[in-house]
Amino acid sequence: MTATSVTAISVDHLAKTFGKVVAVDDLSFDVPHGAVTAFLGPNGAGKTTTLRMILGLVKPTAGGTTIRGRPYSELDRPLERVGAVLESTAFHPGLSAVAHLESVRMAAGLASARIDHVLEQVDLQEAAHRRVGGFSLGMRQRLALATALLGSPEVLILDEPANGLDPAGMRWLRGFLRAYAHQGNAVLISSHVLSEIQQIADRVVIVSAGKLRWSGPLHDGAVLEELYLEATG
Ligand SMILES: Nc1ncnc2c1ncn2[C@@H]1O[C@H](COP(=O)(O)OP(=O)(O)O)[C@@H](O)[C@H]1O
Ligand SMILES: [Mg+2]
Repeated sequence: MTATSVTAISVDHLAKTFGKVVAVDDLSFDVPHGAVTAFLGPNGAGKTTTLRMILGLVKPTAGGTTIRGRPYSELDRPLERVGAVLESTAFHPGLSAVAHLESVRMAAGLASARIDHVLEQVDLQEAAHRRVGGFSLGMRQRLALATALLGSPEVLILDEPANGLDPAGMRWLRGFLRAYAHQGNAVLISSHVLSEIQQIADRVVIVSAGKLRWSGPLHDGAVLEELYLEATG
């Protein structure tokens, strides 16, 4: 089978409760290869919790998730399958970008040539040997993305990647993610801001209060705005 004939991520009747809080409620959707899928919902909708369950970091209360047909925990060499950037990525401020990438690369047993490659992919070569402590927010986000790309994953998951980006950073991210997806990879990005995803996404999954409200191809702006308002209002 080719990469594109297999569903990249499948979320199947997924649920998660924290005490009395229902964070994710019987949620099902699929993410295909070859497209950018936006996971859109207001703050508290359950997006981060869902992404953490896909990555095996939170145990579902019910249901499950798979990546190319297997739960994350059963993936062989997971960093070469799935790259992820979740909220609040922390770096040691005293390390250079290269030193940070090198520590992850070694732990994952990946080829050293990958470091130059990912720095080039995120356009961070010039800052490669500078201490991360002096990086701007945009540079930190690029370094987080570079880290996620180390394993050359066919599935890329980014939680609110547009947060804090200036217009130039946003435009760069849009170009990068669209190109990455159109090479046959699956890209899933969460957002709570409809306008952020309108020029990036090919498909949209709308959630609120942990429930699926709508999923399908990106509509024209007005239709999607109506759907999002309906879902959240
Ligand atoms: N570890 C946790 N303990 C308790 N409640 C949590 C925890 N993680 C998330 N929640 C709650 O679950 C709901 C969904 O949160 P989250 O998945 O972060 O939403 P989103 O990413 O869409 O903003 C919120 O009500 C949040 O307060
Ligand atoms: Mg979140």
